[in-house]
Amino acid sequence: EKAGYKHFMAKEIAEQPVVLADALRHYIQNGRINLPGVDFAAVDRVTLVACGTASYACHVAKYWFEQIAGLPADIDIASEFRYREPVLSPASWAIFVSQSGETADTLAALRHVGDKVARTLAVVNVPTSSIAREANLALPILAGVEVGVASTKAFTCQLTVLLLLALKAAQDRGRLGAEDLSRRLDALASLPGLMNHALGLAAAIRAMAGELAEAQDILFLGRGPMYPLALEGALKLKEISYIHAEGYASGELKHGPIALIDNRVPVIVMAPRDGLFDKTVSNMQEVMARHGKVLLISDLSGIDEAGAGCWETLAMPEVPDFLAPILYAVPAQLLAYHTAIAKGTDVDQPRNLAKSVTVE
Ligand code: F6R
Repeated sequence: EKAGYKHFMAKEIAEQPVVLADALRHYIQNGRINLPGVDFAAVDRVTLVACGTASYACHVAKYWFEQIAGLPADIDIASEFRYREPVLSPASWAIFVSQSGETADTLAALRHVGDKVARTLAVVNVPTSSIAREANLALPILAGVEVGVASTKAFTCQLTVLLLLALKAAQDRGRLGAEDLSRRLDALASLPGLMNHALGLAAAIRAMAGELAEAQDILFLGRGPMYPLALEGALKLKEISYIHAEGYASGELKHGPIALIDNRVPVIVMAPRDGLFDKTVSNMQEVMARHGKVLLISDLSGIDEAGAGCWETLAMPEVPDFLAPILYAVPAQLLAYHTAIAKGTDVDQPRNLAKSVTVE
């Protein structure tokens, strides 16, 4: 059932263009967003709650809800949210994101919200799961069964459904004209093809994995919606390769973590050529000035402009800014996978971890 792949994780990474296209076919029909019964017109804020990788999908979605829809968005990890006393607006919606739909903390957070909000939504992969059943509305991410403990295709499908929710919110709130919406939906339709292209970076990533596998610590940097991608890259790497990794917002580096930098610390910079590129590059140069080993992940024009002096570069396809977080998940996953292979760890069944965390 690994379909010729050595690991479920490799198979699930490779499946992303196909499952993403399935999700897009389901949620975009006749040039319109197909989310029956979802209307954000009277919603005053959204609260997104999840654990682990799913919480990073929520973190990206916060940028989308705010930037595209102008809708305030709060995020929290479920294990904190359920024990805080979150102040919830009765006109808000709470969105719970979970691959398994059984994560104990996320389920408890959903129960904790109860009817204190106008509506609860579940963004889940398993449509028969507890979280799907208990929320007012369940939206499947359509990733297909995910076996590898490290979540890959579920993450990009979660992102896709959350993006469509943010676009729907923008439309319902009069923030997005018909033309702008159809331009964005067309761009989304090109995403599976761009993902195929990004998967083609596997050989280049394999070639640098041996050196990454020697590292004690690896840092990931990103700004804006690439900040949660940096967090996700670090989580994926630590969980399957057991190398200590941290993700930081590029601008936070000089507030402490830069003290970690020396010539043995690889620093992976996720920097699509968006409005924040120059800022991220200046943080990257601070790392290089302290002899950090930088891997710059950008598109060709970004690498042309800023790649000099980097240890390595990876040239991604050009992509509209709002889609970069989905596409840049691919090199993050491949870096973790190939580094783990180089270290010889058990990729599909990492130590101490379970696929579904049903205890708190
Ligand atoms: C990381 C990973 C975990 C899960 C988290 C939530 O690769 O898989 O961080 O994302 O345990 O699980 P779900 O999405 O099933 O609620």
